[in-house]
Amino acid sequence: MKTYNVGVIGATGMVGQRFMLLLANHPWFKVTALAASARSAGKTYAEAVGEKWSFETPIPESYKTMTVLDAEADMDEIAAKVDFVFCAVNMDKAKIRAIEEAYAKKEVPVVSNNSAHRFTADVPMIIPEINAEHLDVIPAQRKRLQTKRGFIAVKSNCSLQSYVPLLHPLKGFGIKDAAVCTYQAISGAGKTFKTMPEILDNVIPYIGGEEEKSEKEPLKIWGSVENGEIVSAQSPVITAQCLRVPVSDGHTAAVFVSFEQKPTKEQILEAWKNFQGEPQKLGLPSAPAQFLTYFEEDNRPQAKLDRMQFGGMGVTAGRLREDTLFDYKFIGLSHNTLRGAAGGAVLLAELLAAKGYMD
Ligand SMILES: NC(=O)c1ccc[n+]([C@@H]2O[C@H](COP(=O)([O-])OP(=O)(O)OC[C@H]3O[C@@H](n4cnc5c(N)ncnc54)[C@H](OP(=O)(O)O)[C@@H]3O)[C@@H](O)[C@H]2O)c1
Repeated sequence: MKTYNVGVIGATGMVGQRFMLLLANHPWFKVTALAASARSAGKTYAEAVGEKWSFETPIPESYKTMTVLDAEADMDEIAAKVDFVFCAVNMDKAKIRAIEEAYAKKEVPVVSNNSAHRFTADVPMIIPEINAEHLDVIPAQRKRLQTKRGFIAVKSNCSLQSYVPLLHPLKGFGIKDAAVCTYQAISGAGKTFKTMPEILDNVIPYIGGEEEKSEKEPLKIWGSVENGEIVSAQSPVITAQCLRVPVSDGHTAAVFVSFEQKPTKEQILEAWKNFQGEPQKLGLPSAPAQFLTYFEEDNRPQAKLDRMQFGGMGVTAGRLREDTLFDYKFIGLSHNTLRGAAGGAVLLAELLAAKGYMD
């Protein structure tokens, strides 16, 4: 595989920092441009991140002295330096939509963590193991944008990565409806215990916009490509409640599900164990060897113990049992800034590169 030069837009943020760590030793991708807001532009990466660096692993040496560019004002310079960009910025949605389209129109593919384009009909929203075939919509998007290379591909919200991967292999049994309650880590809000002291000894029962995303995004992921657009599925209906909990990393989900043809517990466990997606078949560098891992122990999965399964890219489950109201209930867990954000985006970029979309 050839080496691709990549830019990280939002490199100073929580997700951006994750990108920097993941890309430091990536076999295919080399960071050649960093960008953030005008506040950071002109500073070295080490100066711009400063106290905001959120990881025990220090800033990789090769990035410390790189100059941070302005994501908007320096767009031409960035476009000239990269084959594609990752984008994870915290700003007004209309502005994010405009910036991402502007990069695409400069023939720079954009792999985005932002929610701004998730419901643009010709923008694929991908969990690489689940709906890689939605990349087929990219030619139609390029036609609309009048580009040869440029396009936008997005990953879904972090909350649903702790239950959609576990529901997906069960679709053959006809999922009727599902209820989920998510227990979400503070890094999902770009926070640490230092910057979010109000979460200590506390649970906050509201995360703006999260329940709508958790209910609606799975239907686009399970949708189909028709006439150059992705048409969302109509079912299964999902109801969600999302809580912020005092956990640094790792979103947990309590899931309840009913089926048209109720499987046995063994059939569910077998479906999880055997499930493989395109990343496993293609042997992509960031693909977890086993996408879904089930724990027999009653007290697993735990965020602290299990979020780093396969480098934070594996999804774990436990406590599968029959329910009084639904057919079954179980617990799911995924790492929100790895599988749920930067890692999921890197895997998506690998999939795009392997399928020739970055050439
Ligand atoms: N954290 C997660 O688990 C997670 C998961 C999935 C998706 N996301 C999404 O990823 C995005 C970033 O999240 P985050 O948690 O990393 O946020 P964050 O820590 O607040 O970082 C925000 C980044 O955006 C940059 N930025 C802000 N205003 C800008 C502007 N006007 N122009 C260019 N860059 C600007 C910041 O640069 P400065 O340092 O210069 O201000 C910083 O690099 C959000 O859309 C979020 O919804 C996050």
